[in-house]
Amino acid sequence: MHPIEALKALERDAVDAIDSASDSDRLEDVRVEYLGRKDGRISAILRGLGAMDPTERPAVGQEANRVKDVVSTRLQGRLDDLTTADSGSAVDLTLPGRERWRGGWHPITRVVDEIWSIFRELGFTRARGPEADTEWYNFEALNTPLDHPAADEQDTLYLVDSVLLRSHTSPVQMRTMEAYEPPIRIIAPGWVYRRDTYDATHTPAFQQIEGLVVDEGITFVDFKATLAEFARRFWGPGTRIRFRPSFFPFTEPSAEVDVKRVIARPDGTSFETDWIEIMGSGMVDPNVIENAGYDSERYRGFAFGMGPGRIAMLKYGVTDLRAFFDNDVRFLSQFAS
Ligand code: DAH
Repeated sequence: MHPIEALKALERDAVDAIDSASDSDRLEDVRVEYLGRKDGRISAILRGLGAMDPTERPAVGQEANRVKDVVSTRLQGRLDDLTTADSGSAVDLTLPGRERWRGGWHPITRVVDEIWSIFRELGFTRARGPEADTEWYNFEALNTPLDHPAADEQDTLYLVDSVLLRSHTSPVQMRTMEAYEPPIRIIAPGWVYRRDTYDATHTPAFQQIEGLVVDEGITFVDFKATLAEFARRFWGPGTRIRFRPSFFPFTEPSAEVDVKRVIARPDGTSFETDWIEIMGSGMVDPNVIENAGYDSERYRGFAFGMGPGRIAMLKYGVTDLRAFFDNDVRFLSQFAS
């Protein structure tokens, strides 16, 4: 075989041997076989140049040096690959991680779910009603005459004539009483709408959670015990509640419910918060019971309505309600889990 062809064959053999070397020891054997100073096959050819026909010498010498370069470059490359692989992985563990966006429930949705699941444990079922409703369900059936300030067009978003976007979830009370017989124990979360300016504490669309219990023999004691139990389950065992006399057209007597929470400090001590208003409530007005077609001598009830947005603000220490509506992922991602 002509020396140049022999060199090309040797190059192919060397490349195969390098590529199939499975570790750095095997690779070192290959290096010695081809490039070893004493017995290496390329070194031997270079050494033999002197004895060669002088006309062939330069071309063979050039080719031998080219093959030597190819083989040593390839050896080094393979060695680099094998040593990174040997050291565990080709992944650079010192690089910063790539962040992955994970979705999560909206904080107000979390609060609604939490409240709903507490009432479910207390024997309530979930009810719903339409967001577009009539003046009758939104006001009149709830003992609220249309000339009452709450029914003012300034505050309510009317669609057509006597049809409006419900201004509270209380119309679900009447719709539920019409559709079912007592005993009634329902929780009705949903969206409500008011002609409000968007600011730190108001949004024209917001959520409410309505509660209604109607049965024979329901008293103020059931009312207070149920709400106290809810407050303890939601805010913790030390939570106290108080009823402040108030007025709602659909309850008599009416009360605003405040809670005082116990907050634990990291050092084991604790302190009580101020009283914070969390809902409107009351014993269902007999007129409302009658409007539903029930006998108000026989059936009594209590009702309450709260704003999960406001409760989420308290729970998460958010001071501007708009943060819940702007949908800035930097805000929302703090709640993702
Ligand atoms: N509907 C009232 C509101 O939107 C809240 C409310 C008060 C609901 C008393 C009730 C209740 O069920 O008994 O402000």
